[in-house]
Amino acid sequence: MKKKIAVFAGDGIGQEIVPQAIRVLDAIGVRCGHGFDCEYAQVGGAAIDSTGMPLPQESLELAKKSDAVLLGAVGGPKWEGLEYERRPERALLGLREQLGLFANLRPAKIYSALIDASTLKPEVIDGIDVLVVRELTGGIYFGKPKGIEETATGHKGINTEVYTTEEIIRISEVAFKAAQKRRGLVTSIDKANVLESSELWRRVITDVHKDYPDVELRHMYVDNCAMQLIRNPKQFDVLVTTNLFGDILSDEAAMLTGSIGMLPSASVGSTVGMYEPIHGSAPDIAGKNMANPIGTIASVAMMLNHSFDLSKEAELIEQAIQSTLDQGFRTKDIESDGTTLLGTKEMGDKIIQVLESL
Ligand code: IPM
Ligand code: MG
Repeated sequence: MKKKIAVFAGDGIGQEIVPQAIRVLDAIGVRCGHGFDCEYAQVGGAAIDSTGMPLPQESLELAKKSDAVLLGAVGGPKWEGLEYERRPERALLGLREQLGLFANLRPAKIYSALIDASTLKPEVIDGIDVLVVRELTGGIYFGKPKGIEETATGHKGINTEVYTTEEIIRISEVAFKAAQKRRGLVTSIDKANVLESSELWRRVITDVHKDYPDVELRHMYVDNCAMQLIRNPKQFDVLVTTNLFGDILSDEAAMLTGSIGMLPSASVGSTVGMYEPIHGSAPDIAGKNMANPIGTIASVAMMLNHSFDLSKEAELIEQAIQSTLDQGFRTKDIESDGTTLLGTKEMGDKIIQVLESL
């Protein structure tokens, strides 16, 4: 198999973790006889510095003509003062919108070796396996009107939460289909006791559910969900929710597993999928060879699975991660007593070494 991958390392630790993930991808290519042709371009703060824009046309074109996109992270204090349209985060939002990536899949699964890295009690988190399906191109992130306007006494800031029937139908279908391959339970998260957009969300997903009689559908308010995720996360299989609620709840779900540095994500919905760790650019540890590359390496596994239908190869990467952790190797964020601390690059080396031995 020959595939073309657009690689955007982005800012901060993105520059350190992405190369490790690419090395793992190359190792899989060699081992399984696939050609992964990577082409690199800039997005985020790095692109602002060199072109003035967070998502240069050239980078967007590259993404569009590739089979998949691998992204590290964007953002940093250097660019925080810029107007919204020119901030690094716009690169992400622009890619999601322009590539039509309306569904964001964020699996939070516990690695048994890391049970003690979580701040929650082992009996609460042992065996959790949650998939957050976040709507990614609608809601308050994109709704209009938006902006900051002058008033007689000062200013007002405006954003609009808006969902159409079509948008809710397609994200619901992704969630139900995912649940069919898992434990068959979808919990839809909304704020239907207060928001009309949530009321419609609930109505539409209930309707779509009629086509999936083999899946159970539950509804839950977002505030209750935030609580239930730390009280009893094992009750969840697939969580489906809006862009903003999904942003918040997926960070919470990630932390159940011990470190946000571990978790991958897939953004899908059109022919080109985009894969990235769910953490940010972590400017405080950037350039120190300290960041955890596992979330990005696991994102490569998701790419193999979702974009290229290479589930055996994806499984190999997951096994290599698991086994490396089982052998006691850790990056700083997941270090505990009796484990061996590795830097970013050394963690990449170790995972490749384990992969080659499988
Ligand atoms: C995420 C991030 C982004 C988001 C930011 C960086 C724009 O937090 O992918 O969760 O809010 O979607
Ligand atoms: Mg987020």
